[in-house]
Amino acid sequence: MSHTPRVAIIGAGMSGLSAASKLREAGVQVTLFDKSRGSGGRMSSKRTDFGTFDMGTQYFTARDPGFAAAAASWADAGLISTWQPRLFRYDEKGLIPSDDSQQRFVGTPRMTALSRGLLASSELVSGTRIERLERQAQQWHLVDSQQTLHGPYDQVIVAVPPAQAAPLLAGVANLVAPASNSSMEPGWAVAITLPQKLDSSADAVFVRSGPLDWIAREASKPGRANSENWVLQSTPAWAEAHLDDDPAQIVDALVAAMGEVLGIHIPTPVFQQAHRWLYARPAADCEWGALAAPEQGIYVCGDWCLGGRLEAAWVSGQQAANAVLSVQ
Ligand code: FAD
Ligand code: NAI
Repeated sequence: MSHTPRVAIIGAGMSGLSAASKLREAGVQVTLFDKSRGSGGRMSSKRTDFGTFDMGTQYFTARDPGFAAAAASWADAGLISTWQPRLFRYDEKGLIPSDDSQQRFVGTPRMTALSRGLLASSELVSGTRIERLERQAQQWHLVDSQQTLHGPYDQVIVAVPPAQAAPLLAGVANLVAPASNSSMEPGWAVAITLPQKLDSSADAVFVRSGPLDWIAREASKPGRANSENWVLQSTPAWAEAHLDDDPAQIVDALVAAMGEVLGIHIPTPVFQQAHRWLYARPAADCEWGALAAPEQGIYVCGDWCLGGRLEAAWVSGQQAANAVLSVQ
């Protein structure tokens, strides 16, 4: 290409941010678009008068060497820290301590510190839902829900969950099929602040019985407020069965389940909020990494291309960026 190439990334979650930072390092001009107010996607934190709650990603592990090196640099920059909760496991046999030697990381002072750090100086057009892509003269225009045109761009990376990616990929035969055939499972996340500290030594529980999948005490994570804030996350199956329930009923049901898990009475929360994730995790793992149609200048990444973890989203974004760089 004779001019400086321009790349648009639709979706500013971990996969889009990963691709953006790799391209930025290579000197490529990148613009991110996201329908939400800010960046982070499912790596999300809620700020309240009672402190913050990580409503999506709870923590992450690093197994890929490239991701481990990136995590080390984020730790040096103060964006993340290691988290050493007192871990438990709950199943039909009850609640038992389940400490292990796995290194786990969290954003500090909240998960979104990491997304903010990764966004850095990249341009983000927020509050903008991209509805379709139009190809003219070898370039892409992005059309948002107000029918405003953005672009042109030489290349586009689609970094959104598959149901949201499929309409954007409508004209690209080899990419639309994987997106249309991939599905995500839902999840409910509940944030509560309790009036006093619970008499429980558990900081986090892997729950393997009942509606819950996971509970965690926010104050056990580094840099958080001292309030008795907990996040409760449901299993996908329970969320599927309660998708349209009233949020207040969701809170009641998951707080009751939390009492069962910890074996103690949970007092009435002084703050509560439920968040429904329609696309929480991929229904199946796959090994695509990233998808590409280089002749049309369009690429796809996201956790659903590699496995439903933050690390997978990051690796997928790196692979999409590498594919873009290989044709420039
Ligand atoms: P997303 O984060 O979903 O980013 C996609 C972005 O695209 C979003 O910001 C969205 O607003 C935007 N978007 C969508 N459609 C459009 C459009 N048309 N136009 C513009 N923008 C659009 N992983 C772990 O490793 N550890 C955990 O503990 C963990 N816990 C989790 C708990 C929950 C409740 C959930 C939901 C997920 C959890 N995960 C966890 C998974 C992890 O959060 C994801 O794997 C990762 O954040 C996915 O990143 P992504 O970039 O692929 O997608
Ligand atoms: P990890 O290695 O800590 O956990 C992986 C899985 O191993 C856990 O889900 C749990 O089943 C089991 N496990 C690990 N340590 C355990 C212990 N000490 N005691 C009992 N069981 C233990 O982390 P990894 O592989 O990075 O996974 C990330 C986490 O993200 C997982 O917990 C996963 O369930 C969660 N996740 C949640 C989503 C949601 O929508 N709620 C979506 C995607 C991921």
